Amino acid sequence: MKLLDDASLERSSVVANSRMNRERGAVGVNSYEKELGLDPIAFLADRLDVAESTSWLDLCCGRGRALIDAAKTLRSTHPASNLSLHGVDLVDFFEDTPPGCPFLQLQSASLHMWRARQRYDLITCVHGLHYVGDKLSFVESAASWLTVEGMFVANLDMANLRLADGQPLGRRIAKQFRECGLVFNHRRHLLSCVGTKSLALGYRYVGADDAAGPNYSGQEAVDSYYEPCS
Ligand SMILES: C[S@@+](CC[C@H](N)C(=O)[O-])C[C@H]1O[C@@H](n2cnc3c(N)ncnc32)[C@H](O)[C@@H]1O
Repeated sequence: MKLLDDASLERSSVVANSRMNRERGAVGVNSYEKELGLDPIAFLADRLDVAESTSWLDLCCGRGRALIDAAKTLRSTHPASNLSLHGVDLVDFFEDTPPGCPFLQLQSASLHMWRARQRYDLITCVHGLHYVGDKLSFVESAASWLTVEGMFVANLDMANLRLADGQPLGRRIAKQFRECGLVFNHRRHLLSCVGTKSLALGYRYVGADDAAGPNYSGQEAVDSYYEPCS
């Protein structure tokens, strides 16, 4: 099988797909709350009730609706607070940012290259990891960008992790995640952790397969291939 490098993957019709759901808001029917079991606005508001500042990084943020919802709500409920809301997505299909929200930044970049410049109280990735090449490096990075009590939560299908010979890698990685203090909810396909983590999972990424077919989400997804580091 010919595996794709990052540049080819980003051009793939599976990843650059204009029909995928980029419309989720923070709460409601089509929402982050529904997909993650976590209301991000309530999470940030709770932080602001005990601290002057809080921050949210939404990786693969789509149109940025959930962040925009949070910006509008928290601007009025916690006007004196120091907020930092960042979204990153490969394509700039972003909604217009509301006026008076300089703390909200929606940025077009590939997460294969992008690196955070600060730590965050909340890091989310809602149905974005399915399209990322090096999923393990993504998780390692996100866990390292958390504040001491910060939370990372992302949808992940372990079946999209494979060894270079095609064998499934998900069970081994789930065990490693557990040993490193991450929680994988198999029923909901949700990976989460609380607090900064320094992970070294010990696998070298070798490429991606965009012809893997639909994963648990029902959408075409990308398999990520790895070799153990010797
Ligand atoms: C199914 S959409 C979900 C969007 C948003 N989280 C939501 O729930 O509304 C997946 C998103 O991942 C983005 N994406 C895929 N590969 C990416 C990459 N390498 N870097 C950044 N974003 C990527 C896509 O452009 C798309 O907006």
